[in-house]
Amino acid sequence: MRFLRPHPWLPTVLTLAVVLVTAVATTPQDLGTLGPEGQIYVGADYYPEHWPKDRWAYDAQLMQEAGFNVVRLAEFGWVLMEPEEGRFDFAWLDEAIETLAARDVKVILGTPTAVMPAWVARRYPEALAMKPDGTRVVWGGRKNNCFSNEDYRRLSAGITRAMAEHYKDHPNVIGWQTDNEFGGTDCRCDRCRARFQDWLRRKYGTLDELNRAWGTHFWGLKVQTWDEITIPDSREGEWAISNPSASLDWMRYTSWLNVDFQAEQVRIIRDLCPDHQFVTHNFMGLFQNMDYYELARDLDFVSWDNYPVFSDWAKPGISYAASFAADVMRGLKRKNFWIMEQSAGPLGWGTFSRNLRPGEIRKIAYQQLAHGADAQIWFRWRTCTAGREQYWHGLLGHDGKPGRRYQEAAQVAKEYAKLEDDLAATTVKSDVAVIYDYDSIWALRFQPGFEGNSFQGAVARYQRALFRAGVNADMVRPGADLSGYRLVLAPALHVLPDDLAAQLVAFVESGGVLLADARTGVKDETNRAHARTLPGLLTPALGIEIAEYESLGAVEYAVQGKDPLAGTFTATSYADWAAPKEADVIVGYETWPVKDFAAVTRHSHGEGHGWYVGTVMKEEAFYDRLVGALLADAGVDAVVDPPEGVEVSVRQGEGRSLLFVINHTEGTQTVSVPAGKERLLEGGTTGETLDLEAYGVAVIRL
Ligand code: GLA
Ligand code: ZN
Repeated sequence: MRFLRPHPWLPTVLTLAVVLVTAVATTPQDLGTLGPEGQIYVGADYYPEHWPKDRWAYDAQLMQEAGFNVVRLAEFGWVLMEPEEGRFDFAWLDEAIETLAARDVKVILGTPTAVMPAWVARRYPEALAMKPDGTRVVWGGRKNNCFSNEDYRRLSAGITRAMAEHYKDHPNVIGWQTDNEFGGTDCRCDRCRARFQDWLRRKYGTLDELNRAWGTHFWGLKVQTWDEITIPDSREGEWAISNPSASLDWMRYTSWLNVDFQAEQVRIIRDLCPDHQFVTHNFMGLFQNMDYYELARDLDFVSWDNYPVFSDWAKPGISYAASFAADVMRGLKRKNFWIMEQSAGPLGWGTFSRNLRPGEIRKIAYQQLAHGADAQIWFRWRTCTAGREQYWHGLLGHDGKPGRRYQEAAQVAKEYAKLEDDLAATTVKSDVAVIYDYDSIWALRFQPGFEGNSFQGAVARYQRALFRAGVNADMVRPGADLSGYRLVLAPALHVLPDDLAAQLVAFVESGGVLLADARTGVKDETNRAHARTLPGLLTPALGIEIAEYESLGAVEYAVQGKDPLAGTFTATSYADWAAPKEADVIVGYETWPVKDFAAVTRHSHGEGHGWYVGTVMKEEAFYDRLVGALLADAGVDAVVDPPEGVEVSVRQGEGRSLLFVINHTEGTQTVSVPAGKERLLEGGTTGETLDLEAYGVAVIRL
């Protein structure tokens, strides 16, 4: 019983006692999201349907030799499993699973609803999504469905049920992935519009309430019947056209529609399959079009698809974004996660990227392990010779030969197996939280306020500095319990409901250190500007008053800091004209017309401190200094002070602490580490320093 969840029925006391005794006997500790025997799953996304059957046994053999113990299968195999409506054929998949089982390779099955078979589109043309121009998507790609369409939902439930019934007792099937990468569809058909209207009716109850929330007195946009409500014109490239309050609700609604679609598949799987078959989904890290907290809620754990090479296309870089994304993924359920897909070679559709450097496949995997990944699956096993992704390279090339990339993945699999006991029930525990909020992501996309402003961009300034300081933050949902944290960062927390503001003030009062910055707290939860002087309800914690502010465009203002931020810096993009009032000015403007205002302030409130940064500083080094000051203020110390390009992370469990040190650069790096500690990968103990070759990693038991 690994993936425990509440049963619909009440067990008798006796059954409960037996379950508890068994649980104590077989699982002495919570193993997090590792396998039932505490094993770490390592493998690849595999498409047996791409290859002749006489190759399958050799693939399975190569997997076993590599130390792989899992594959994900079938997430694009709908037409092969249901060649015509209601007729199911699992023979090919049974055979593939048997072949893999013979080599002890377990299977995760994907529900195949991300690509509808041609017969679905032909028989039910309204299952295809409608584009903003009123025409339907042409069948022939993927992620092309309307999530409101009744036929599509019935067919999705049908294939899910058929798969679950067929595989529920299969000993080699360990779990399920719903669909594939939810979030890409934005259908504008009449049915989606009607469901949006229903959703709004449930949310607001009355039209008066909706009109108030959306502020439809502006431009005379009052609606008098529910069916007058249209779909806001608010997608890519046209973010600002519609009412931002309506646009925010549309984002929440489309997100909900995906979640609701997934919920039906989850319900079917949970009803039919035993508890030990988990249900997960492959998330996309920093993807912005869905409320990922909601998508994660029904699942046993989060998995994600990590393609750092996509952002480091031509030249390797320091993988800040993959580090950020991993923390976001861990934050969705405040739980470890799986890697369901990961860069395995050059990638791209028309053109492709650089190859992965020797050591890089391993380094990318360890970075995720360090942040809480409990399984490692590469995309894909073998590079396909047909279709859109012929250049999205797998561990094996087109030729199917096990080469350098395969060998490196095999090395990871073998090393991970040795780390299992140490990894059990460990996760990242941080003293620092960043509030990661989808409402603010969306609201700032409609109205960034100043050129280049975005929620993720603002968070990244701090996250990169924390990375360089050797500290991982937890990315937490607004409203999450903050009592375990010493430092909370709320940069660009644009949508700030009153209760969240009150929680942040109370956090400072009781001894926490809070950071807020430009455009924090401007909006309420309906995406209307608060009718208050900024920083609104945060004022007691920050001690400043912002009566005016401006975008800077090409203008820059020189600023001068004092201890602990002594030095000159450059304010760009935006400036709050922040009057310090009760706060201490740490950095002030040097030039007219902002000479009397503060760029950075610190205020003592209750037992804690509230910091405010009212601009975007040009120098990245400024954020290193600032984060250093915040950590010092909060009494948070990093275990290791890493050189540039080296990342450190600590996984902790009961009585155990594992330090990961990861060299993201192509040169050797020398890192000062605690001496006399066990080095888990190569054996022996640490000296005062550690030399890591290009892309080298170390795991040290503290
Ligand atoms: C995504 C999808 C995969 C594949 C890869 C590479 O992560 O889930 O099916 O398309 O991208 O393109
Ligand atoms: Zn639709």
